[in-house]
Amino acid sequence: MSLKRISKILVVGGIVFSPMVKADMEYLKDVKGYLTAQCSLDSSMCESVLKAFNKAVTEKSGKRFKASMIRLSTSESITRLNTELGSSKKAAQRKCKNLKGQEFENCLNKTYKTRIDVLFGGTDGPYRGALEDNIFATYNYPNTGIHPWSAKLTEDSDNRLGAFYMGILGMAYNKNVLRAQKLTPPTGWADLGKSDYKDTIGVANANTSGTSYKYLSSMLTAFGSEDAGWERIVANHKNISQYTKSGSAPCKLVARGEMPICIGFMHDIANLAHNGAPIVGVAPAEGTLFEVGPVAIVLGSQNRKNAEAFAKFLYEPATQAALEEGGGRQFHVNVASKVPAGAPDIASVKLLDAPAKFGTKSFKKSVIDKWNTDIFPMKR
Ligand code: F6P
Repeated sequence: MSLKRISKILVVGGIVFSPMVKADMEYLKDVKGYLTAQCSLDSSMCESVLKAFNKAVTEKSGKRFKASMIRLSTSESITRLNTELGSSKKAAQRKCKNLKGQEFENCLNKTYKTRIDVLFGGTDGPYRGALEDNIFATYNYPNTGIHPWSAKLTEDSDNRLGAFYMGILGMAYNKNVLRAQKLTPPTGWADLGKSDYKDTIGVANANTSGTSYKYLSSMLTAFGSEDAGWERIVANHKNISQYTKSGSAPCKLVARGEMPICIGFMHDIANLAHNGAPIVGVAPAEGTLFEVGPVAIVLGSQNRKNAEAFAKFLYEPATQAALEEGGGRQFHVNVASKVPAGAPDIASVKLLDAPAKFGTKSFKKSVIDKWNTDIFPMKR
């Protein structure tokens, strides 16, 4: 991908846009009652964003506000929401099937029963796939003063998804552990399949983690054909020492010296390095995919206005500050937000474009099914 294209996707610094929401955040003053969120960021980031929202609402409304939150990996979060909707989803399918457009949405909204109001953070793949489940409400997500990658997700989803951050998938190694094991650093995805790296690599499990699906998608995109990508996935699998539930876990193990190499998001790796860990990030030579971190308001939410205010708050520079406080060094959606110290250098990354089918439920299912039946059980 050309530098021109990258800067179209990621406009950072140098250009001054008018902020899209007033810094006074007056819309928070009407937030009251409850809000329950499912978050798929790292738990420290989930907590700091929620804390910032609670504080801002309490200040604006003059009444103590406390939203609750559950942390789940991205695919796990979508599965849990569908499970919770359970029989009410079946009832809605019967009741609303002859309706169209807004009437259809209103019918689903009235029939669904859920305690979850909003989903936020995680990778875009599972959220895109879930669009086919009819579980997200339309909302006028902010559309000025934001980076184009966010506007694109909102447009692609017909206003059912917003996006408040962007991150790049990469890999990392612990320089002390690598030196002690007399291993050379990997430079790209193909290196991860080398026999020298037996039992050295950590990546997340594809059933739960959005990071893992992004890894599989990167492999299927980076090698010219999907068959070639699957061959690389098999070769890498033979060297995997651990599949974790959450996407950020493997690089935390590497930072602590418990494993030599990990696959993960470069902003998480940058944060571990910034905090002094002997971890070195690598932008894969063959190229890699990026994530956009979505927000979605749940149809059937009992606290719709609060969920909308929360979604809007995620676009505020205050959220960027909260993410950073929780260890988030990803690129925030608001062009007025500052790029976090130690954020990955985008110019050094070869970014790939994933074909649109990677965001469909059926394709995602076919990839994860194949991973479960053909790859995971294979002897390592
Ligand atoms: O918060 C860290 C992070 O790496 C995000 O950038 C990403 O969206 C999320 O975790 C993915 O988590 P998981 O792989 O567990 O779904």
